[in-house]
Amino acid sequence: MHKITMPISHLVNEVSINAFDFDIVEVKFLKDIHRFNPPWVFHFDVGIVNDLFMRQIRNIDWTGCELFSFHLGPACRRVKKESYYHIAESPVLDREIIKSIVKDRVARLRELTDVPLAVENGSYFPFPAYTHICEPDFITEIVEENRLGLVFDIAHAMITAHNAGVVFTKYIDALPLDKIVEIHLTGTTISEGTWKDLHNEPDFTGYAVLNYVLCLVPRDVHLTLEYYRDLEIMRKHNRILRRLANVNSESRH
Ligand SMILES: [Fe+2]
Repeated sequence: MHKITMPISHLVNEVSINAFDFDIVEVKFLKDIHRFNPPWVFHFDVGIVNDLFMRQIRNIDWTGCELFSFHLGPACRRVKKESYYHIAESPVLDREIIKSIVKDRVARLRELTDVPLAVENGSYFPFPAYTHICEPDFITEIVEENRLGLVFDIAHAMITAHNAGVVFTKYIDALPLDKIVEIHLTGTTISEGTWKDLHNEPDFTGYAVLNYVLCLVPRDVHLTLEYYRDLEIMRKHNRILRRLANVNSESRH
């Protein structure tokens, strides 16, 4: 069966979590590790190319962790965030250097833990820090050469295809969908003429993509609602996700 993951957030705490039908908690911040009973999955917002990455995770106690996922980019060792976008604070790296950094850090991770590892597809915007990292063939090479799973973020894929001028289904079909271990569902937003991932309520399009992708994934995966604004709306989508997961699992077995 697919697993409904429950991200811990400012709204989801030790009490409110009981209002949800979920299989496993998803921790997004170091401070929340071991706050809830195991098992847990850890989704880290820092990209593996960022020099902060190893520094921040090297002392984690991985006991009970089922999956560790992280972002691939930005495509430089140091970045800052300015009006929503990543801005490079160090040189933008070429493909081969990014690949060697990822290879080295994944090897170091595997010395620290045998927890399965996965990388998330990001959103592309036309700025230097986003170079290479959203290209589907590059993501495929990173996943396959490092034996990683793929966290498929629906909104990120939609934003990337739109901003790169690529047909959406062509973009996602070029990703290593057979390696998906987790799917993120959230709503995209057009803000100031630009598509953004502001973690809005998922809409019909998001669910259509989710259904499409689930039909192509050869295994049970984690399903994560990335929406954190209203408990009742979160509960509604939690129920939808559970039903959808059940129907899809039954049709595959
Ligand atoms: Fe995501």
